[in-house]
Amino acid sequence: MIPQSFIQDLLNRVDIVDVVESYVPLKRAGSNYAARCPFHSEKSPSFTVSQTKQFYHCFGCGAHGTAISFLMEHQVMGFVDAVRDLAGRVGMVVPEQTPDPQHKEKVEAAEDLTEVMLKAAQFYKAQLKTSDKAVAYLKNRGLTGEIAARYSLGYAPDGWQNLEAVFPKYQSKSLTDAGLVIASEEGRRYDRFRDRIMFPIHNQRGAVIGFGGRVIDQGEPKYLNSPETPLFEKGRELYGLFQARSAIRDAQRVVVVEGYMDVVALGQYDIGYAVATLGTATTPWQVQKLLRQTDNVIYCFDGDAAGRRAAWRALENSLAQLQDGKQVRFLFLPSEHDPDSFVRAYGRETFGKLVDEAPPLSEILVQELTSRVDMRTVEGRAKFLQEAKPLVKQVPAPMLSLMLRKQIAELAGVSQDELDRGFDIKVITRAQAPQRRESIKPSLVRALVEMLAFQPSLAALADSARLSENADLASSELPQSEIGLLAKVLEVCANGNNVRSVAEHFRGSEFELLAHEIETGSLKWEKMDQEALQAEFVGAWEKLVERFRHVRITLLLEKSKRQSWTSEEKEQFRSLQQGAANETPG
Ligand code: UTP
Ligand code: MN
Repeated sequence: MIPQSFIQDLLNRVDIVDVVESYVPLKRAGSNYAARCPFHSEKSPSFTVSQTKQFYHCFGCGAHGTAISFLMEHQVMGFVDAVRDLAGRVGMVVPEQTPDPQHKEKVEAAEDLTEVMLKAAQFYKAQLKTSDKAVAYLKNRGLTGEIAARYSLGYAPDGWQNLEAVFPKYQSKSLTDAGLVIASEEGRRYDRFRDRIMFPIHNQRGAVIGFGGRVIDQGEPKYLNSPETPLFEKGRELYGLFQARSAIRDAQRVVVVEGYMDVVALGQYDIGYAVATLGTATTPWQVQKLLRQTDNVIYCFDGDAAGRRAAWRALENSLAQLQDGKQVRFLFLPSEHDPDSFVRAYGRETFGKLVDEAPPLSEILVQELTSRVDMRTVEGRAKFLQEAKPLVKQVPAPMLSLMLRKQIAELAGVSQDELDRGFDIKVITRAQAPQRRESIKPSLVRALVEMLAFQPSLAALADSARLSENADLASSELPQSEIGLLAKVLEVCANGNNVRSVAEHFRGSEFELLAHEIETGSLKWEKMDQEALQAEFVGAWEKLVERFRHVRITLLLEKSKRQSWTSEEKEQFRSLQQGAANETPG
C-alpha cells in the first residue's frame, strides 16, 4: 500500500503536461494544451490537458484523469508501476506503508518472467535463421523475410531441452512459470515448444508475454499456445496489437481475425491494422481494448457455419461494450477462404473493399434473429421479440439502443412504446449495463441538474436569483452542497455550454464523482419531448422554490419559540405566507 499522502505529494510535484508530452505532442490552446486524442482516433484535437487543474480530458471519447491514470491507460501500467514511474521522474522515493513482501515478490517475479520470455524469443528468432526446414516452410507459405522480422517469428528446434542453451539454470522455477518448460510428474523437465514455428505474442508495451507455436506441416495440435501465466491471460490479449497500433490509428479501424497466420499475411499485404484473438471467442475485454484504440472494429470470419457461430459469439460479447459513435461490423469471407488465403488470392484492394462494405452489428443481429423463426406468423414474431430482448437490453449506447428497438418493433409489427414496455425499458441510462443496479429516483436538485446537463437552454426558465437568495439555507433534504452544485450548473449553462462541459466543469472539484453520474443520468430525459421536458423542469424548479419557502417558514417559527421576531422577520413571514397563498393552485 502506498500512502495516500504520498500520492498527493507526488501529484503536486509532477506536471501532467510534461508527462503527457513525453508520449503525445501537445500544442498550447489558450490556457490549456491540446492534441489529437491518444485513446481514440480522430482528425481534429479534442484531447486537452489542463496545467492548472492537472487533468486531461477528451471531449471526444470522455477519457480523463490525472497523470497517474494517464500512464495507466496510455502505457497500460498498473497503479503501482505508474506511481513508481512518476516518482522516478521527479526524484521521489515511493514509501511502502506496510511492506508487503508477497507483493514485492510478485512484482519481481513478473519482471523476471518478462526477461525470461524475451530471452526465449531471441533464441527462437536466432534459431529460425539457421533452420533451412523452417525457413522453407515459411517461404512456401509465401512469407517474406521482412515480414517474419516484423512479427519476430522464430523457430523452436526439435529436441527436448534446447532452452538449456540460453538458460543454464534449466531447473529454475521461472521457466515453468513462464510456460516454456514442462515438468512431468516423474520430475523430468522438457521444452514445451519443439520443432515449431514460433509466433511471439506481445502486450501493448511490446513485451513478449506468450507464444503460439505452429507445427511444421502436419501434426497435432496444429497450434500449441503458452498456458495462462502471470504475464499472459488469453482472453485479455490480442495477437499483433502491438505491431498494429500505428496502422490502426492511420486507417481508423481494426480488423479482428482468427489466426496468427492471418495477421501476418495481411501485414505482408500492407494491411497492418489486423489483430487476432488467441484461439477463443472474442471476449468483452478484447472488444473494450479495441474500442479504445479506434471507433471502427470489424470482425472477420469465414463464411461457413463455424464462422457464423463464432461471429454470433463475438456479437454477444460486444453488445455491452457498444457506444454511440463507435461501429462494430462483420465481414464474412467466402467459405473456402480465411484472410490469409483470401488476401493472397484476391489482393489488398479486394480485401479492403470487403472491409469497407462489412455490414454493421445491428444488421447481423436482426438477420440472425429473424432467420431463426418464421416471421410470417404471430408466434414467430413473438419468439423474435423474446430472443431480441436480452440482447438489446445489454446495449448501453442510448441512440443505438433506440434505433435497434425501433427497427425490431417495426419488423415485429408493434409500436416502439409497446416494445419498450415489453422489454421493461424505462429509462435509457448506462446504469442498465448489467453490473449496475437501476438508479433510484434522483433528488429534486439532482433532477434539475440532470435536465440542465441534458439541455442547458433550460437554464433560461429558471430564476437563479431565487437560488442565490436562499443559498444560506441548508437542511437534510436540501444539503448545501446540492444547492451549490445547482447554482454552479446554472451558471455554466447560462454561458451556453453543453453536456460535456457541464460535467467537465466539476472534474477536480468536490463534485467530481457526481460529474460522471450527471452526464449519464442526463440521458434519461432524452425520452421526453420538448414540451414535457420544459414542463418537468419548471415544475421541479417551482417545487424547489416551494421547499425554500417551507424551510424559511419553519426556521422562523422555530425562532419564535425562543425569541420574538424583528420587524424585518415579521415582514418576511407575511410575504412568505402570501407567497404560499398565491401559489396554491386555485
Ligand atoms: P486455424 O486452424 O484456422 O489456423 O486456427 P490458421 O490460423 O488458418 O493457421 P494455418 O493457416 O493453418 O497455419 C485459427 C487460430 O486458432 C488457434 C490459433 O490461434 C490459430 O491461429 N488454434 C488453432 C489453436 O490455438 N490451436 C489449434 O490447434 C488450432
Ligand atoms: Mn490459415
